[in-house]
Amino acid sequence: MAGTCVVGLQWGDEAKGKIVDLLGDQFDYVVRYNGGANAGHTVVANGKTFKLSLLPTGVIRPNVTSVIGNGVVVYPPRFLEEVDQLAKGGLDVSRSLVLSDHAHVIFPYHMEEERLAESGSDGKIGTTGRGIGPCYQDKVGRRFGVRVGELLRPDHLRERLAQIVPFKNRLMVAFANGHAAGLKPFEPNAIADEYLSYAAVLKPYVTDTSRMLQEAIRADKRVLFEAAQGSLLDVDHGTYPYVTSSSSLPSGIWGGSGLPAKHVTRIIGVVKAYTTRVGRGPFPTELDDGPEGVGERIRKVGREYGTVTGRPRRCGWFDAMAVRYTATLAGADEITIMLLDVLSGLPELKMCVAYEIDGERRTHFPSDAYDLERCKPVYETISGWQEDITTARKLSDLPSAARRYVDRVRELVGLPVSVVSVGPDRDQTIRV
Ligand code: IMP
Repeated sequence: MAGTCVVGLQWGDEAKGKIVDLLGDQFDYVVRYNGGANAGHTVVANGKTFKLSLLPTGVIRPNVTSVIGNGVVVYPPRFLEEVDQLAKGGLDVSRSLVLSDHAHVIFPYHMEEERLAESGSDGKIGTTGRGIGPCYQDKVGRRFGVRVGELLRPDHLRERLAQIVPFKNRLMVAFANGHAAGLKPFEPNAIADEYLSYAAVLKPYVTDTSRMLQEAIRADKRVLFEAAQGSLLDVDHGTYPYVTSSSSLPSGIWGGSGLPAKHVTRIIGVVKAYTTRVGRGPFPTELDDGPEGVGERIRKVGREYGTVTGRPRRCGWFDAMAVRYTATLAGADEITIMLLDVLSGLPELKMCVAYEIDGERRTHFPSDAYDLERCKPVYETISGWQEDITTARKLSDLPSAARRYVDRVRELVGLPVSVVSVGPDRDQTIRV
């Protein structure tokens, strides 16, 4: 089993970190291949809690090499802040963490570009504001993209920023659309000085991670890929344009790490027992049913607030149409059902089994956001359970209604369920 991927099959925040944690020391390398500091995970190690958004969850294991692959976009201050946070908590990652020299760098003008683009009402996506989209735009546009390796060449970096920054300053003015009075132009030399100071600290971490992973596979090492965000946020197959700017499906592994897909032989799809989404975009099973409604109850019990931005997550019923769609695209071999305990105490539960558009029933998921907006969910109602299930450790410990719920998810998605999670702790887990 050379390569395994843990991937979320909804709109992110599926508790993938817990699955990575459960896989424990079965891996020699843990790799992030997409996204940046827009992801968020809370990990516990040495009895301390760490809030990470850029480093892989695996970083808390000292004998695992954690890799930030070339497909990730990196904000150096955030990288150094997280390394520092770990060091203060007694975790020295200086020998176990590596950063691709091909990963792209996020600069302050990326965040400003995003702030301006998102502050109007037109074309707003509801992003995390971390400069992710503008940095990927520059990567694909080629003229203004800067890779981590370039930070290590001072003269070259100064030259590049001298070309890029004046253009960015003009772009900001255009973006501000007549409200440019408050804008402060960026100064290329000041950015170069700042980033060169980061580069001095980053240098020991920087390497050709693609080659490192290819060599690892040749040496029979085991590699775990942590997908960031969820499959429905994938830039190609997600609910475009309300997506992130990277390939969050396992299809991103080849491009985002340099390791050919044939080495990934196990794909674990992670789903919540319900659905959440942060930011804008269609969400057919959303429960927008007021402060006393089920949506608010799920939010409270499941503590559904964004780790990165603190925004309340939108909550809704489990959507089997969406998960069947992403499980197929991801090539998932199995699924894990997370946060089942959050549904305890509800008299009845619903699951979306089909959609209706203009009175016509559809049994496949339209990933186009404009079609999806018109979809009305067709629900199957399942009775709920009143018992606390957080102490269940085997399927047979679950009340029969909860077992039926798990069975129905398995049937509708068409994949085996390998784990059911009934609480945040490592031991609050049913391994099926
Ligand atoms: P961006 O990735 O910051 O450009 O945001 C694009 C969309 O993806 C927004 O709707 C965000 O809320 C969403 N998003 C980005 N990262 C995550 C994540 O880790 N979990 C959930 N949603 C995310």
